[in-house]
Amino acid sequence: MCGIVGYVGDRPCRDLLIAGLEKLEYRGYDSAGVSVISDGEIDSVRAVGNLANLREAVEAHSLNGDGPSVAVAAPPATIGLGHTRWATHGRVTEENAHPHGDCEDKIHIVLNGIVENHAELRRELRGQGHEFSSETDAEIVSHLIERHYDGDFTEAVREAFGDLRGHYAFVAMHRDHPDTLVGARKECPLVVGLGEEENFIASAIPAFLAETRSALGIENGEIVTIHKGDVSLTDADGNPRSREPEKVTWDEDAAEKGGYATFMLKEIHEQPDAVAETITDRLPTLDGVDLSDVELDDEFLRNVERIVIVACGTSYHAGLVGRYAIEQWARVPVEMDIASEYRYREPVHRPNDLVIGVTQSGETADTLAAMRLAREGGSKVLAISNVMGSQGTRDADAVLFTRSGIEISVAATKTFVSQVAAIYLLGLRLAELRGTMDRERIAHLVAELKALPSKLQETIAGTEERVRAIARSHYDQRFFMYIGRHIGLAVCLEGALKLKEIAYIPADAYAAGEMKHGPIALLDESTPVVCVATDSPVVEKVLSNMEEVRARGADVIAIATEGSEDIAAAADQTLWVPRTDWILQPIVAIVPLQLLAYYIAREKGLNVDQPRNLAKTVTVE
Ligand code: F6R
Repeated sequence: MCGIVGYVGDRPCRDLLIAGLEKLEYRGYDSAGVSVISDGEIDSVRAVGNLANLREAVEAHSLNGDGPSVAVAAPPATIGLGHTRWATHGRVTEENAHPHGDCEDKIHIVLNGIVENHAELRRELRGQGHEFSSETDAEIVSHLIERHYDGDFTEAVREAFGDLRGHYAFVAMHRDHPDTLVGARKECPLVVGLGEEENFIASAIPAFLAETRSALGIENGEIVTIHKGDVSLTDADGNPRSREPEKVTWDEDAAEKGGYATFMLKEIHEQPDAVAETITDRLPTLDGVDLSDVELDDEFLRNVERIVIVACGTSYHAGLVGRYAIEQWARVPVEMDIASEYRYREPVHRPNDLVIGVTQSGETADTLAAMRLAREGGSKVLAISNVMGSQGTRDADAVLFTRSGIEISVAATKTFVSQVAAIYLLGLRLAELRGTMDRERIAHLVAELKALPSKLQETIAGTEERVRAIARSHYDQRFFMYIGRHIGLAVCLEGALKLKEIAYIPADAYAAGEMKHGPIALLDESTPVVCVATDSPVVEKVLSNMEEVRARGADVIAIATEGSEDIAAAADQTLWVPRTDWILQPIVAIVPLQLLAYYIAREKGLNVDQPRNLAKTVTVE
């Protein structure tokens, strides 16, 4: 997830912009850039890698004296934009780093999020003579503003905003308006920091917290025009709006976590965004899936004979969920293997096999080794990864990127849901190509997938307080059992892993139908049994398994689809999740289990972001 900073005032802004970007480093990025207006021209420096590289580039630019530069701007520039980019559209290159300009380099913009209709707008703008210098969706925005500009900068931004689909926030500046920044928000956050004869705009408060604590949040669909002495708001139709700023009381540590107590909780709350970023522009219409960013030949996908998913930990659980969708939708057999086991069993590879390595970091040694083995054996290898440029993405024949932004907490949460979402996309694409699903079902699933971000939001809002109460009454338990069937079993495995790794409570996740074959002996009057009993063709069977464990006196906590009163009647406590197509339920059903592990760990006073004996594989500099 990228970072935006803008400044307009009387102070030299270059260092303010870079300092603001440094405060957003925790969000993760792979390139960065700043643009300022200096001496009537826009001057811009961009660099791949970390902000030290950007500082170096800025200095080198001025030392070499090769043309105007941010560093030699004289008099020092007092208006500018900065950005840290986490690549989604287009590779990690200097050209793709923001800010992006229009044809005449009069307008620069920085953007977070995704412009869904970028391909059609690019075609249209090209037809009108616009030339592009990057592969990004973001660059479209500066050209759209250029197209609409007729002397009124805010109006041009407002009209450009109206052309865009997707979820994004952007800020623009214009050479001929050297005292003005204009920002716009659709879903992705944007906030103004109000100072004395100076103002900031950023994607998150930490970017300006060292300078001002007065913040004005921009709401969805609003356009904000910022000068050093005033800020004005309109809605997307140009009607004025006004709102009082708020005082930020967070300390710096809380600010970095977006006001949440921990990174893990922040990342749980970022799940709607992570899924939205992963799916939105890949579902441009209700007709099907656009996976053109994944370089897998349609002919190959049409004829693929078997899929093998290899992964570790949470990524393995994401694969388990995905297997059900792929097999049901595309009728391709899917095998799952834990990557650390796969490579030692002399697996058989065939040319029409697709081996999928699911790895958020793209650096997990066992998954990389399994992928390499498959490739050497002659199979095609697809990586599903969250990190551009990681080893896994370089080793694979093709990559399907999740777009969760960096995950700092060691426990994977938002990367899990976006991995599942990515596999759903692949499953739908396979079904489309192989003709295994009718158009109506595809359109229904596309609509259901598009609704997932708001359903995730609903799940978090609807379960968090209740989960907290359950955590308070259960945190000192010595053992938890998780039971489920079918997709619910994969959710159980992931829920139990979360509890083990962050709350250090032994937990077992079992196929509910297997309980009577032995594990039921573990249960006594005090054992909490978490039953994932969301909608599915086997929900009635899960219900009888719940009754079976309740008869042993176990304390049953059910995860149920809203309205399933029979499940609630068989449980001691019920956590409701919104209704979706049943096969998509894992994405919402996992949320209360993540929260349960989280709040139990917090009740125990544990450091959830850095559990003992575990470290995150992070490749971003
Ligand atoms: C659990 C967790 C791990 C990872 C596993 C694989 O919360 O984070 O189980 O899922 O180490 O990591 P990646 O996906 O980076 O290959």
